[in-house]
Amino acid sequence: MSKLEAGQRMTVEWRGRPIWILSRTPEMIERTEALGADRLADPESTEPQQPSYADGPLRSIKPEIGVIIGICTHLGCSPLFKPEPNAEGVGVDDWPGGFFCPCHGSRFDLAGRVFRNVPAPINLEVPPYRFESDDVIVVG
Ligand code: FES
Repeated sequence: MSKLEAGQRMTVEWRGRPIWILSRTPEMIERTEALGADRLADPESTEPQQPSYADGPLRSIKPEIGVIIGICTHLGCSPLFKPEPNAEGVGVDDWPGGFFCPCHGSRFDLAGRVFRNVPAPINLEVPPYRFESDDVIVVG
């Protein structure tokens, strides 16, 4: 992921599924951590079984790098990357930016946490992964 710049996302494939590697800026991290649990449908992120590093608000090993399976937990569409707050057409009052599923309108933050009152019942899944070096992530 040496070409991944701050604020960008890249997609790789693992076991036939899209894996998003997201480079979060300090400002994106701040926005995500500031989101109140009362806005989230699945704040504890308990299902399905997730790696232990998916427990915190950023759901990742390193705060600045998110690794998320890019499949909506409602019916399996691929959410769009909408990193800016109040992105046109998807914004709600306290939308901190993240991912928007165009199929039925589910919203996820930049850690893949699902908002309340949308069809998706649980957070986007975090796959097992580890850092082999600063630039290399091994998924699986
Ligand atoms: Fe994403 Fe329905 S498949 S909201």
